[in-house]
Amino acid sequence: MSTTQHKAPAFSTQLQHRSLAAVWHPCTQMKQHETHPLVPIVSGKGVWLYDAGGNRYLDAISSWWVNLFGHANPVINAAIRDQLEKIEHVMLAGFTHEPVVALSERLKSIAPGSLGHCFYASDGASAIEIALKMSFHYWLLCGQPQKNGFISLQNDYHGETLGALSVTDVAIFRETYAPLLRSCAHVPTPDWRYAEAGESARDFASRAATALENHLAKHHAQTAALILEPLVQGAAGMGMYHPVYLQRAREICDRYQVHLIADEIAVGFGRTGTLFACNQAGIAPDFLCLSKGLSGGYLPLSAVMTTDTVFQAFYDDKTARAFLHSHSHSGNALACRAALASLDIFERDRVIEANKNKAAYLNTIAAPLAAHPKVRNFRNCGMIWAFEVATDDADFAAQCFQAGLKQQILLRPLGKTIYFIPPYIIDEQEMDVLVNGTLQVLNTL
Ligand SMILES: Cc1ncc(COP(=O)(O)O)c(C=O)c1O
Repeated sequence: MSTTQHKAPAFSTQLQHRSLAAVWHPCTQMKQHETHPLVPIVSGKGVWLYDAGGNRYLDAISSWWVNLFGHANPVINAAIRDQLEKIEHVMLAGFTHEPVVALSERLKSIAPGSLGHCFYASDGASAIEIALKMSFHYWLLCGQPQKNGFISLQNDYHGETLGALSVTDVAIFRETYAPLLRSCAHVPTPDWRYAEAGESARDFASRAATALENHLAKHHAQTAALILEPLVQGAAGMGMYHPVYLQRAREICDRYQVHLIADEIAVGFGRTGTLFACNQAGIAPDFLCLSKGLSGGYLPLSAVMTTDTVFQAFYDDKTARAFLHSHSHSGNALACRAALASLDIFERDRVIEANKNKAAYLNTIAAPLAAHPKVRNFRNCGMIWAFEVATDDADFAAQCFQAGLKQQILLRPLGKTIYFIPPYIIDEQEMDVLVNGTLQVLNTL
């Protein structure tokens, strides 16, 4: 491991100036960059990001939870290069191509239940829009237009386009745009952090499921679907919950004829320790939304998978009964090849099994972190770790990000929650850097 001191990145002033003048950065108060300079990244390899000054940063959050097998992964790079010489993109209406067919077949073979039909878009929020529209449209086609409401979990996050934001319950993203949003009921969260003292995760999740049951008993006739983030509510601060909630939710939705939409955009592809989070509850949703890790985190790609029952409701002689929704880059060939290469790595390297050992190692070395006097609720689910930091500093997240960079780690807390979502190729030495560096961060702040 390099022990060189963190240096101010070369050319940062110039690039910062140009970036601030021309690029409106996402989820950012731009003025804060007057005091906190942007980090000019020039390359990446494995878990590491390299800046223009020669510093490196361990990508502990997989670049917003997307990267699975490291930056510049040779298998994925080769697949994209090969596809580039064939066809980079062709519209998916009226045309098809091998990568999108192969990917759809492959996803069908690994997804829970019988989700045999894949509809593609480019990002997570678009996948959510598609699932919501498809669910509503299905009930309309079945002669039940009154089933047009959606419910989601308290603290859920599903993206920031207007439909996705309507079913999101994270105040910082939602409040300003509330007048533009459709009303949506948010049923109590099963996130164990909110349990009564002494209440088990299972009991708390069951109690939340009973609240869902009571809600649907009254409102099922107007409800098209329940949408949820299975097992881990990411943007809410990696709130984790017991799989019994998913089992109960599936059963209740079946009983009341309400679709279940599983938003596995963040948790799909092994993040929670199984290929899909729904696997841990042994359930299959009516709609499965995938993105982020779908292309190994390389290229913007999302998919909504659904059942034959839903598909058949749209299958008709009349164009008007079709699902008339489109995205220009739907089923992009390069992104599909990246996704196929990523699935090859899962098989070749038996990634789900290998991750169990990695998680066990990280849990062992993280014992001092879990026991740190400032740390609360240290928790782990598969390849996700999180804990709250006891601090009164309102600027904690920004301070922690800066302190992390000095320790060669990219940390981006959610409020006072520090979390790790590392690429799966992280090795033991790199996990040591991550844990020791985070301890240093806690001790300096
Ligand atoms: C659970 C979940 N759903 C939806 C989204 C939205 O995805 P995107 O940012 O690609 O629109 C995210 C993004 O973080 C997410 O975590």
